[in-house]
Amino acid sequence: MAPSSLSALPSTTEPRKVTPESLGDPSFRRDYGLKYAYVSGAMANGIASCEIVEAMSRAGFLGFFGAAGLPLETVARAIDRLQASLGDAPHGFNLIHSPNEPDLEAAVADLYLKRKVRTVEASAYLDLTLPIVRYRLSGISRNGAGEAVAANRVVAKVSRVEVAQKFLSPAPRAMVDELVRRGELTTQQAELAGRIPVAQDLTAEADSGGHTDNRPLVTLLPTMLALRDRLQKEYGYVQPPRVGAAGGIGTPAAAAGAFLMGAAYVLTGSVNQACLESGSSDVVRKMLAEAGQADTAMAPAADMFEMGVKVQILKRGTMFAMRAAKLYDVYRNYDSLEAIPAGVKQPLERDLFRASLAEIWDQTRDYFLKRDPRQVERAEREPKHKMALVFRWYLGQASRWANAGEPSRQLDYQVWCGPAMGAFNEWAKGTPFERPENRKVADVALAILEGAAQITSDYVAKLST
Ligand SMILES: Cc1cc2nc3c(=O)[nH]c(=O)nc-3n(C[C@H](O)[C@H](O)[C@H](O)COP(=O)(O)O)c2cc1C
Repeated sequence: MAPSSLSALPSTTEPRKVTPESLGDPSFRRDYGLKYAYVSGAMANGIASCEIVEAMSRAGFLGFFGAAGLPLETVARAIDRLQASLGDAPHGFNLIHSPNEPDLEAAVADLYLKRKVRTVEASAYLDLTLPIVRYRLSGISRNGAGEAVAANRVVAKVSRVEVAQKFLSPAPRAMVDELVRRGELTTQQAELAGRIPVAQDLTAEADSGGHTDNRPLVTLLPTMLALRDRLQKEYGYVQPPRVGAAGGIGTPAAAAGAFLMGAAYVLTGSVNQACLESGSSDVVRKMLAEAGQADTAMAPAADMFEMGVKVQILKRGTMFAMRAAKLYDVYRNYDSLEAIPAGVKQPLERDLFRASLAEIWDQTRDYFLKRDPRQVERAEREPKHKMALVFRWYLGQASRWANAGEPSRQLDYQVWCGPAMGAFNEWAKGTPFERPENRKVADVALAILEGAAQITSDYVAKLST
């Protein structure tokens, strides 16, 4: 299969001007009703806000609302707002795998089905789960030509080849059978399930802000494209799945490179958090505008803390990376809160928690009694789990303090961010985008694509001389 972006190259000896609209896979733009093959990825806790999704949609891009970490009622309100403001215009929501809260993942998928949310960005999956498969297959039908047509679109964001393979294959038989048994699918629908991939679109996520395997895009994207080609040969889908690129894209050159490597679309995150419409705070936007490429670090993740999973964050101007690493160290070395020696505990209580660990446990307990009482039962049985919940309080609050711009907690801000931010800042020097107050999400997206089109045009012109 020819890399889709080559459609932007000239077929005559006269070099054709490459435009922002011509970059990427035309079928991606057509299927999602977009002017441009450019997507703003979900950012947790509503950092990818309704305002971002609306601004992107109105300018011809696709934006995903950052549903992760939000209570179900808040996600439902975002659906109300975006369905009212955008109707059928492009937009989508994040469905994030939650190994610690499987019921929440199922409830969010259920909400999306009930509210007829037709496009989701599926992320953080290590394997397929029943909720994501159910979402994809619900409402699958046959068109006039007898082809399988899915009602719901999944854009899966993946950084590992083994996981990509699952999303680019049809849903596993055992899960399809289970959905039939539960009365969620008919046997005719189950038969159609074998003809489409779980995800029509797969974003190859390289070194990025937030959860990342830190792979370079230049190694990851070709591997994912080759995997797609192999699976397309194996399954012979009527519509071949597309592969987009994310991670490190914050400049025209990065976007141009991704398209020339064959990306059907590009997806950004870090640069959008720095924009006016994001659900972050002005103080964080200012910190992000000062970041260089080397100003990021890996730090323990709140959602998968016990598993040692890390997220990429902004290092400059905050002590979060160091403090969170200290908590993980303590978690590894002691079996319970009570076993932590006073000399280790005191600085934590003084500098990080600003309260005793016992007080933090009381707050944490109240929170989980409302949200997921099984966590409290388990914590009362397993002291190590109690310690994890208390330490995760700090990690969770550190994101909230950053989003709220809490002045007394600036040194604790947890700001997810990748090297794309520094690259963007370097490129933006001397332009209006140098100032945080000029960063509007759709303007940034268009500037990146206009620059990418220019770079590609220049490249093509050079080739033809
Ligand atoms: C602040 C922030 C929060 C993010 N939260 C999520 C999330 O909740 N769900 C998700 O799928 N991706 C999340 N991401 C990843 C982005 O959607 C996107 O894939 C990534 O940032 C692209 O790489 P880049 O940061 O190099 O542009 C987040 C990224 C950032 C910077």
